[in-house]
Amino acid sequence: MTAKSYPPAPSKRVFSGIQPTGNLTLGNYLGAIRNWAPLQRDYECLYCIVDLHAITLFQEPAALHDATRQVAAALIACGIDPDEHVLFNQSLNPDHAELAWYFNCVARMGWLSRMTQFKEKAGKDRERASAGLFVYPNLMAADILAYRAGHVPVGEDQKQHLELANDIGEKFNHDWAVPGFFPEIEPLILGEATRVMSLRDGTKKMSKSDPSDMSRINLTDDADAIAQKIRKAKTDPKPLPESAEGFEDRPEARNLVTIYAALTERTTAQVLGEVGGAGFGDFKKKLADAAVAHLSPITSEMNRLLADPAEIDRTLFKGGDKARAMSAPVVASVRDILGFVHPG
Ligand code: TYM
Repeated sequence: MTAKSYPPAPSKRVFSGIQPTGNLTLGNYLGAIRNWAPLQRDYECLYCIVDLHAITLFQEPAALHDATRQVAAALIACGIDPDEHVLFNQSLNPDHAELAWYFNCVARMGWLSRMTQFKEKAGKDRERASAGLFVYPNLMAADILAYRAGHVPVGEDQKQHLELANDIGEKFNHDWAVPGFFPEIEPLILGEATRVMSLRDGTKKMSKSDPSDMSRINLTDDADAIAQKIRKAKTDPKPLPESAEGFEDRPEARNLVTIYAALTERTTAQVLGEVGGAGFGDFKKKLADAAVAHLSPITSEMNRLLADPAEIDRTLFKGGDKARAMSAPVVASVRDILGFVHPG
């Protein structure tokens, strides 16, 4: 076969995804979603609610359905523009699943076995984990590379998956001799709070799947719930440090100060200039006020949007159509590169 050439990958395309499982947390917001809207100024953005990823662990269908709409409402409330950009749920575009199959044949078992998220989610009994959970990162690579997107805004915990996606893209380009077909993916890990920790344990990530609701702030929490969770957040008996070195062995103090810095759009050092030496009582009041001021307009806009679920569905379907039109030529080229007999 003669070597064919393909158009260059788009240079200014962003893709990111979020799972519709449970409530969105302040971690999702500060680590990822908040950074998504500003990127719309300079990039063509695709934001995807990854329902195919969600079912790697069992999801009640009704809860999955509601959570998908809720995440869509949250993203729109946080400034995602579904008219100018692309907002959709993953299962609306079957190209993701098709490309993920090809990547199942590219990624090596050893690469996947090293993923910390698989180890955490599978727990001790790996034999009982779904095969989907194991190949989860291949689907993630497919999400991004189905659009040949080069920029992916995420929180710190997704970095390892993006490195694997780059390994897959590189191996594909190399094995089928199509240099540059899949672009290198640049992780965009932005802001002060790239890893927001649990309010009950500063060594654990704040997560929507933590059994304790007191461990996280949900985007749907009202002002009283937010204030109560922050009041009860775990701390230590010492006053706040004057500088970041004082956070050594004080993960809870570090976490609360980092959250406050992110919410008030300052650096940790600037915040410590203001609150260093103070006790946690006063600081927690400031933090609760900042969190409520920040989140309450988002929550009320989400609730307004959720009152019309049919409109949310229409928005997602339109996004799905746009996404399919963007990935179709990429996946057609991949079939061609692989040597499949197809009409082109
Ligand atoms: P998910 O749904 O767990 O989280 C969505 C985004 O929120 C970030 N995040 C956090 N950031 C800081 N602190 C935290 N405590 C915290 N918790 C969550 C995550 O880093 C993520 O950016 N595998 C992905 C979804 C996905 C995806 C993709 C992402 C599927 N395909 C393609 C990027 C590109 C996930 O489970 O995210």
